[in-house]
Amino acid sequence: MMDNEKKEVIFLLGATGGIGKLLAKELKKNGYIVVGNGRKEDILISMKNKGDIDDYIVGDLTKDSDRKKIIEKIKEYKYKGYKVKIFYNLGILHAYSGEFKNYTNDMIENSYKTNVISIEEMDRELEENDLYLDTIYMVSISAFYRGNWDPEYQKTKAALKAHAELQIFNSHGRRIIALFPDTIKTGEEGMGSKLKDYPKIPGELFARKVVEIINGKYKEYSGFMFEINNNNKVILYGLNPSKITGAFEYHERKSLEEIGEAIY
Ligand SMILES: NC(=O)c1ccc[n+]([C@@H]2O[C@H](COP(=O)([O-])OP(=O)(O)OC[C@H]3O[C@@H](n4cnc5c(N)ncnc54)[C@H](OP(=O)(O)O)[C@@H]3O)[C@@H](O)[C@H]2O)c1
Repeated sequence: MMDNEKKEVIFLLGATGGIGKLLAKELKKNGYIVVGNGRKEDILISMKNKGDIDDYIVGDLTKDSDRKKIIEKIKEYKYKGYKVKIFYNLGILHAYSGEFKNYTNDMIENSYKTNVISIEEMDRELEENDLYLDTIYMVSISAFYRGNWDPEYQKTKAALKAHAELQIFNSHGRRIIALFPDTIKTGEEGMGSKLKDYPKIPGELFARKVVEIINGKYKEYSGFMFEINNNNKVILYGLNPSKITGAFEYHERKSLEEIGEAIY
């Protein structure tokens, strides 16, 4: 728990989905001031009423004007003297594992705009405003492996991984964290539920570990892979970008701990 003087603000973008809700609760439990974002106002209001977030901004991160609203809110908190972190948790996965030729332009555009471009644009706009924030990127293990689901999702997450790597090398002293989880069960109609046949990491367990990482456990690593192995155990790995290629290599990952059992 942080004492009041050390309270930090975390902007959780993509707060309204399965993982977002669990992360918000866990961050609050750990003393963070949580500002939620998503397009669904009703969910943000109900989260605020339940005390799972302190504040919110309704907005679509793919829209210039909505990103601007978030930046203005970040400035407000900075002017009040708070340390601010940003957590990009938003994402979209199509319930589709077909051939590339069958994708529509809209599907492709939506994937890229949501999963990569909105985040790159936000980062650039933050820098334009001299806002260099500690940043957490929710990538996916699919940035490394091919699964049997939405190939566009996997390509966008690989692009987000590359963006996180670039940010780490231009960090200006910020802490940058990239998360690479296997499938997660959140109890919501979200991504996890589209991946029916895969074993899953229990959502609460995942949220707990992520907040421990944000709190500085394993601070010698920038990347964290949560992998379900063949025995259905969830293993946490630490990884750093290679000094030669600048890329996260999963072959160079280091096992940190077994964090629990996967479920279906
Ligand atoms: N679940 C898994 O198995 C799994 C595994 C690895 C990584 N991940 C990653 O974890 C993150 C959360 O996944 P989830 O399972 O919680 O999915 P989810 O339930 O579908 O939640 C997606 C979140 O993204 C937000 N979002 C989507 N488009 C947006 C936009 N244009 N502007 C602002 N917010 C937007 C949604 O908010 P609104 O609808 O309110 O806009 C929602 O809060 C994603 O980045 C996903 O790729 C998930």
